[in-house]
Amino acid sequence: MMRTFLKRHGLKLVIHLGALVPAVVMALQLARGSYLDPIRQMTTASGNTALALLGLTLTCTPLARLTGFRAVLRVRRPLGLYTFSYAALHLLIFAGWDYGFAWDLLIPALFTQRFVLAGLAAFVILLALALTSTRGWQQRLGRWWKRLQRWVYAAAGLVVLHVLLLSKTPDKALRYGIVLVLLLVLRWVPARPSAQGASSAPVTKD
Ligand code: HEM
Repeated sequence: MMRTFLKRHGLKLVIHLGALVPAVVMALQLARGSYLDPIRQMTTASGNTALALLGLTLTCTPLARLTGFRAVLRVRRPLGLYTFSYAALHLLIFAGWDYGFAWDLLIPALFTQRFVLAGLAAFVILLALALTSTRGWQQRLGRWWKRLQRWVYAAAGLVVLHVLLLSKTPDKALRYGIVLVLLLVLRWVPARPSAQGASSAPVTKD
């Protein structure tokens, strides 16, 4: 029975537990006072976790198409929702902890620090995708739902821009950009017969 459970839900379990690890580590480091500059380090940690999860979300479809391992399609939605959650934490640390929700400072920051504008645009897309990721919205939007979900690539592109604008050297953003282009190209590689329809399979099916 345990074997059947693990076979059916093992991957999902790994995703749920794995995605919670960075949050637990951040909370422990904060509680222990291990951060020298907590705002800066928590911003970096949450941003990098969101980016890593976004990368994993985008890997699911090409992986299913290339290997025929369709079980990964069932973890796309949780991965996407965890991406959004860490991005929301990242934004909350910036707007709430760093700026104390001082709108008179936050609004000018959008225009003087262009990386903030790129990050916000990416966040708005992730928010729209998270809100419409339910089965109800999938049915309501019909064929438009799939088109909307493709905006995840625009969000990833804006995150690459966010990192490019905030970094002193372009190396890191360049590496992320190459991975993103590679993932996009892999979408168009002919799928294995057993993986037909991988790119159009609903993200919401758990
Ligand atoms: C309104 C939205 C956002 C704001 C205000 C924001 C703000 C910031 C700030 C202040 C930093 C640190 C800059 C520094 O080191 O001085 C940062 C870094 C970063 N952010 Fe964002 N961000 C936003 C959205 C996002 C999103 C949606 C993602 C990913 C899904 C993301 C990923 C990152 C990454 C990867 C870094 C670089 C961390 C590093 O230096 O290694 N950010 N962001």
